[in-house]
Amino acid sequence: MGGIHTNVWYVDDDVDIEKSYPQIVEAAEWLKKNEVVAFPTETVYGLGGNAFSKQAVAKIFEAKGRPADNPLIVHVASRPHVEKLVKEIPHEASKLMDAFWPGPLTIVLRGGEGVATNVTAGLDTVAIRMPDHPVALALIEAADLPLAAPSANLSGKPSPTTAQHVIHDLTGRVAGVVDGGATGVGLESTVVDCSSDTITILRPGGITKEQLEEVVGHVEIDPALTDDSHQPKSPGVKYKHYAPSAPVTLVDGTSSFLQSIVEKRKEEGIKVGVLATEETEALYKADVVIPCGSRSDLISVANRLYDVLRRFDEANVDEIYSEVFTEQGVGTAVMNRLSKAASGNVIKE
Ligand code: TXA
Ligand code: MG
Repeated sequence: MGGIHTNVWYVDDDVDIEKSYPQIVEAAEWLKKNEVVAFPTETVYGLGGNAFSKQAVAKIFEAKGRPADNPLIVHVASRPHVEKLVKEIPHEASKLMDAFWPGPLTIVLRGGEGVATNVTAGLDTVAIRMPDHPVALALIEAADLPLAAPSANLSGKPSPTTAQHVIHDLTGRVAGVVDGGATGVGLESTVVDCSSDTITILRPGGITKEQLEEVVGHVEIDPALTDDSHQPKSPGVKYKHYAPSAPVTLVDGTSSFLQSIVEKRKEEGIKVGVLATEETEALYKADVVIPCGSRSDLISVANRLYDVLRRFDEANVDEIYSEVFTEQGVGTAVMNRLSKAASGNVIKE
């Protein structure tokens, strides 16, 4: 734990943003002084700092323990903000902004000379998104700055979906946390590269490939997402991520197959956790069984995933076995995060 005092500001995200304004102004003051502040977005909590200040951005990397070669997303509250950051906005990128902003879509564009060099980790592109959360937008406007912000977790840990997760990871390491309650989507934004002629998904997320294709036609998927022999274009994707302390294994098979693995491990004296669903929870006998949403609603699985992974840490299990999900719609993003949490460990029936 670090040494600085961490303020916590409570704001009412949906009732009365005006009432919360003094807290937001106070948090914005810290941002203007190039300190770092965590805030809610509709995906996960972000750890924000002035994107123009190398010193502020360095504090973000330090607080998280993030590798310096992993660039940050710049968060804006309006389109004129974007025009200050890049020389030109290609037509297709503009169509995506019209369709999905504010929302869980990060757009990688050529340029970014305007922001501090450590934001882009030396790349000649910059990732930008407009979050769909009243508190995030109010904070960016009050600070009157674009905010560089990665997810507000310690590097390698599951992203935070509540202020409590942030407080757990970053107390003593950041100037403050704006607590606006639980986030919405629960998984990070989709990152889409619009810096060349082919539009490519670099990281699956809240906005699906199908949704993007409705707006701009065919969209590619970075081959590195499904094939380890490729170097990912989004540097962050190569790191082990989203992982609780106990090793995670995905089990591609029936519940009774998963239960048979659990039994073997329990006989060996291992404390076992199972990531189940509402439909299957009752079928498992393990030390800790946590339902992660419903199989009939993958959005509910996305919503719960990071909190569930963190709850296994709290329960101190030795090993976690997880069900798998269909890779359709937001299921693609769920399986991307689960596979990373499992470092690719899968047992097939
Ligand atoms: O939903 C989100 O995107 C959350 C909230 C806080 O906005 N933020 C988030 O940031 O997930 P972070 O830092 O955890 O992930 C950013 C991802 C990384 O995979 C990074 O490598 C990629 O975006 N990225 C950033 N700049 C890039 C660039 N210029 N080119 C390619 N990928 C980039
Ligand atoms: Mg992250």
